[in-house]
Order: sequence, then C-alpha cells, then structure tokens
Amino acid sequence: MYPDVIKKEHRIEIRSHIDSSFRSEIIKDVSTGLNASRKSIPSKYFYDERGSQLFEEICTLPEYYPTRTEMSILKLSAPIIMKSFDRGDIVELGSGANGKIRMLLDAAGHSKLSGLRYIPVDVSETALTEASEELLKIYPKLEVLGIVADFTLHMDAVPSEHKKLILFLGSTIGNFDEKKREDFLKLVAGTMNNNDIFLVGFDMLKPKATLEAAYDDMRGVTSEFNKNILRVINRELGADFKPSHFDHVAFFNSDRERIEMHLRANRDTTVHIDDLDLELDIDKDETIHTENSCKFSREGVKDLVEKSGMKIQNWYSDEMGWFSLTELILA
Ligand code: AVJ
Repeated sequence: MYPDVIKKEHRIEIRSHIDSSFRSEIIKDVSTGLNASRKSIPSKYFYDERGSQLFEEICTLPEYYPTRTEMSILKLSAPIIMKSFDRGDIVELGSGANGKIRMLLDAAGHSKLSGLRYIPVDVSETALTEASEELLKIYPKLEVLGIVADFTLHMDAVPSEHKKLILFLGSTIGNFDEKKREDFLKLVAGTMNNNDIFLVGFDMLKPKATLEAAYDDMRGVTSEFNKNILRVINRELGADFKPSHFDHVAFFNSDRERIEMHLRANRDTTVHIDDLDLELDIDKDETIHTENSCKFSREGVKDLVEKSGMKIQNWYSDEMGWFSLTELILA
C-alpha cells in the first residue's frame, strides 16, 4: 500500500499510513477488550488530538517525574551521542512534542544540521504536523519527513537508506507486555544496520508512593487523560460512554512491577456501541483496564536487550537512578 502524501514542500514532507486498517484494528481491539470478562481498552487509543494535548500537560506536572528526569539525562548525554552521529536520519517513534529532539539538534550544532534529516513517526496527524512546522522554523537547515503511522504496525514505512539514530523515549516501551516488548525490539533491530544507534528510555523501579503520585496527580489531569479514551471510543465507534460514570484508578502492581490504570464505574451504567452492534451493561465498581506502565530494573533491561539481539553501548541515568536512557546497537 502506498502512503498518502499529505504535504510536500521545501524541506518538509508528511506521509500518512493511517488508512482503513485503523478502523478494522480499533473495531477488533475494542470488541475483544469489552466483551472479555475483565474489560480492557488498549492504551494506544488515548492519543487523539485532545489525548496528545493532555499527555503534554501531564509531562509538565510536578508529580510526573519521567519527562523532566529524562530531559535532564538527555541534556548531559546529547553532546556525547551527537558526537558520533554527524549525518543521517533521526527517527523518533511516538514523537509528540519537540522538547527531546531539540536537545539533540542543539547538541549537534548548527553546522551539522544540513546533514541531518528528522523523521518523526506518530499516530496523531495534527500533533505531528504542528510540531514539524515549528521545528522547521527553529532550524532553517533541517529537513523533516513526517510519518503518520502506528509504529508498531508500520516500521517498514521508515526509510533505511541512511545511517539512523532511532529514538524511543519516555518509557513508551513500558506500555508493552513482556512478549510485545521483546518482539518490538526485535522488529526495530531488524531495520538496523551495523552503525545505527537505538536510544531507548526506561522508567526504573522506585518507591511505590512516588510512582503512584505520578499517575494520580492532584490537578486531575491524568484522570482526564484516562477518561479521554472513552471519548475516543464514542467518536470512532458511535458509542455513548458517559465519562462522569467512571472514576480514574491508578496503582502500582508490585508483583508485575507496573503501574496499572483503570476506569471504575461509579454506578450501574449501560453503554451502546453502534458500530459494534453492542449493548453493554457495566456494574458499579466494575473496571476497564486502560494502561500498563511497566517499571524496570537494570538487570531486566539488560536481559531484554540481549534477548532482542542487541547490546547496551552506553547507559545514562540520573543520580537517583529513576530513569535510564540506553544507547543500543546490534550485538
Ligand atoms: C507515554 C506511555 C510513557 O506510561 O508514563 C502518563 C503515558 N499514562 N500518565 C506513561 C501516561 C499516564 C506514559 N507513556
């Protein structure tokens, strides 16, 4: 299938790989998830335009330590990373806002920017286009190729003719279960050549209270983010979820070393989902599981990386050891 070229101008091209497969995918995912005895909706459906905005707001909350900790690590490591990467493509999987790529581009220095191309990959077309245009203005020599796609399905849409620095930041890897993480790292490793670098952010294990506060902030932004998934389902599948009938729940599951987010019905409620031809009775206190955010140990990361056919070339962390930025290469 050929991508849809959404925009093509001097220094910028945006291609979309979101097509009818998105519809069949969401229909399949939601009907499987909501027909199960323990209900769930995959976390990738958080990120429509509003969901992406809410997530950006989460990143600025005092309780949400991952973004600022990763940024502080990136600030110190970017000059080292960019020293060995002076030309080629920087591919960012799940790109979102520009904060992190800017650290790398600033570290590269303006003289090198004409040798670099930035390739953001994101499901949200508006978020990706806006961020790309902002970047062009800040870096007048940079070229951008935006790819609107679900990177778990469309890694093959990423060009491979140049040397690559692939970014998978923010511990998005923690949203995958153990099998999916290994499969995904193998998939990315399969697109890498010997000189390519894969930079992956891992959120590390830490005291439970710190973890739980990060996913249940005082201002209720995470709660709004969690409930936004219901609005996405309402719009995409003609459903009538009432977000106010659900409460945000987030806790650390210490056996599985992950934060879990759920939506818990605060009354008996009935939902119609037109496009699935489904009427669903949800009992008071019944939950819909919306996200896992796994936390890692250094041993766990090493294990995962080795199983995926790669090795750790550099390990960057903050002084508390709360977050890690790992530089991976083929083994
Ligand atoms: C973007 C998936 C890494 O799991 O911490 C933030 C998403 N969920 N607050 C995370 C999220 C609730 C975030 N990731």
